[in-house]
Amino acid sequence: MPSENPNPSRDPAKLRSARWFAPDDLRSFGHRSRAKQMGYDTEDFKDKPIVAILNTWSDLNTCHTHFRQRAEEAKRGVWQAGGFPVEVPIMTLSETYMKPTSMYYRNLVAMEVEETLRCYPIDAAVLMGGCDKTVPALIMGATSANIPSIFLPAGPMLKGNWRGETLGSGSDVWKFWAERGAGNLGCDAWCELEDGIARSPGHCMTMGTASTMTSMAEALGISLPGSSSIPAVHSAHSRMATHCGRRAVEIAWDQLKPRDLLTPEAFDNAIVTDMALGGSTNAIIHLIAMAGRAGVKLTIDRFDEISHRTPVIANIRPSGDYVMEDFYDAGGLLGMFSRIREHLHLDCPTVSGQTLGECIGDAEVFDDDVIRPVDQPIAKAGGTFVLRGNLAPDGCVIKPTAAEPDLLKHRGPAVVFTDYPDMKARLNDESLGLTRDHVIILQNAGPIGAPGIPEWGMLPIPDKLLKEGVRDMVRISDARMSGTSYGTCVLHVSPESAIGGPLALVRDGDMIELDVERRKMHLDVGDEELEYRRSEWKAPETKIKRGYGQLYAEQITQAHEGCDFRFLHDGPETPEPEIH
Ligand code: FES
Repeated sequence: MPSENPNPSRDPAKLRSARWFAPDDLRSFGHRSRAKQMGYDTEDFKDKPIVAILNTWSDLNTCHTHFRQRAEEAKRGVWQAGGFPVEVPIMTLSETYMKPTSMYYRNLVAMEVEETLRCYPIDAAVLMGGCDKTVPALIMGATSANIPSIFLPAGPMLKGNWRGETLGSGSDVWKFWAERGAGNLGCDAWCELEDGIARSPGHCMTMGTASTMTSMAEALGISLPGSSSIPAVHSAHSRMATHCGRRAVEIAWDQLKPRDLLTPEAFDNAIVTDMALGGSTNAIIHLIAMAGRAGVKLTIDRFDEISHRTPVIANIRPSGDYVMEDFYDAGGLLGMFSRIREHLHLDCPTVSGQTLGECIGDAEVFDDDVIRPVDQPIAKAGGTFVLRGNLAPDGCVIKPTAAEPDLLKHRGPAVVFTDYPDMKARLNDESLGLTRDHVIILQNAGPIGAPGIPEWGMLPIPDKLLKEGVRDMVRISDARMSGTSYGTCVLHVSPESAIGGPLALVRDGDMIELDVERRKMHLDVGDEELEYRRSEWKAPETKIKRGYGQLYAEQITQAHEGCDFRFLHDGPETPEPEIH
C-alpha cells in the first residue's frame, strides 16, 4: 500500500529529480542502483528533493579553506529537512592566484554552474562562494538554469594585525607598499605584515568585492537574512550553513526560483545597499551581468541615480575606518538595513520565505560609529558615481569616497602608457618629469585589451612622488580596481581602447579635465585632431587565438554592459534534458 502523502503540495512525483529516479524503466534502474553503489539505501533518496551543494573549495582558493566543513554542515541541514544532499565540485575563482585575472573566468564558471544544474537530477542548489567573482558566477549560472538556489556566503576573514594595528585586506597592502616605495618601511616590517594580514579562512574583510557581492546576494534576497556579515570562523557561520541546507529542501518543494527573487526592485535594493556600504566599483559590472541573466534591464545610469540619494553609512575600509568583523558586531547588514528602510523595497521576497521587510524586523545597530545614523554619514552620497564625456561616451566610474577630495575637480596633462608592461617599465623614468598634477593614463587594460579587464586601475604612484609625500593622483584606465583599493581612479572607461574607444587616442601632454560633481571627464583636444588620430589608429592584435580565449574575445561585452558573453546575457530558456 502506498503511504499517504501528509502534505499533498509536496508531491514527490513533481520533483525534477523524479524524472531520473521514479520511473520503472531500465534507465532509472541504473540511476537507483548507482546511488546504492555509493552506499545509500532506497530510504535515503526515495521521494526526497535532491539538493546539490555546489562547492568552490580548492587548495588554491585561500578564502574558501573552510568550505569542506561548511559543505558537511549544509548536508546536515539537508538531511534534517528530509532531503538528499549531494556535493558537487565547481571550478573555483581564486582572486589571489588566477591569472590574468579571475574576472576572465567568471563567465566560464557561470556556464559550468548553469549546465551542471541542468544536466543532473538536482531539485535545489546551495551555492557556496565568497571570493570575489565566485559570487556573481554562481548566481549568474543558477539564474540562467533557474533552479531553486540559495547562496551560502563564505564570510569575511578575521581582521589582520600588525604591532597592535588593525590591518585590512588589500587596502593596507597598498598603503604599506606605498610607504615601502617612499623608503619608510624596512624588509623586516614588510615580512611581519605578510604574517599578519590574512589570519583565518574567509574572504577579504574590507569592503572589497567579496564583502560587497555577498552583501548584494543578501540584498537581492538569494541569501539568508544576516548571513553575509558573519565572520567565516564564527560558530554562527556553521549554523548558518546548516540552515542553508534545511532551507534548500523547502525551496525545492516550493519551487522558489532565482528569477522569482531577482526582480527590478531587488536590483534597486542591491544598488542602494552597495551605495550605503561604499561598496566595490566591481558591483556595477556584476549586477548588470546578473540582471541580464534574470531578464532585467539594468544600466549604469541607475547606479548614479541611486548613488545621488543614498548616504554612505558603513564606516568600513577603504572608504572608512573599520572592517567586516566590526560591522558584524555592530549589527551587520540587517542592522544597516534598519537605518535605510525608506530607501528599500521592503516587500521583495527572499529565499528565507519572508519579505525583506520581515527579515529586517526589529534589527538594530549597536555601534553608531561603525554603522552611522543617516544624518551622520561617511558621505551624503557618492558610493559610486558614473561619469561621461568625450573620453568615455558609454560611461566610466569613480568611487569618490576613496579619493582625495581636491582631485575630484582637476585639470592636468596626460602621461600615457600603452599597456601594463609599458607602465611598469617607464613609470619611474624621471625624464617623464611627472608631478602630482599629471593624469596617468593606462590603455589596453579592458575586457578585450588586457584581456579580462583586470584590477589594474589603482595605477601606482611613481616612487619619486611617493618620496615627496604624494599619495594620490588622477588615474584613468579601462581596467577595474579592487574593491579594497582607493585613490582618484577613473575606471571601466567604455568603450575600451582596444576596440578604438577614445581612450586609445590620448597622447602625452593632452589636457584632461575631471569634474566629478558634474559627472564629467573631458579630453581637451579638438574633434578634427581626434579624427586624424583615429585614422592613424590600429587595433592591437588579439592575444589569445584558441579555445576559451577565442570564445571570450568573440563574445565578451563592454564594462557598461556587464562583461557577460553575448549568447549568455539573456535569451530563451534552455529546455530540460531528454532522458532516454
Ligand atoms: Fe578572496 Fe579577496 S582574495 S576575497
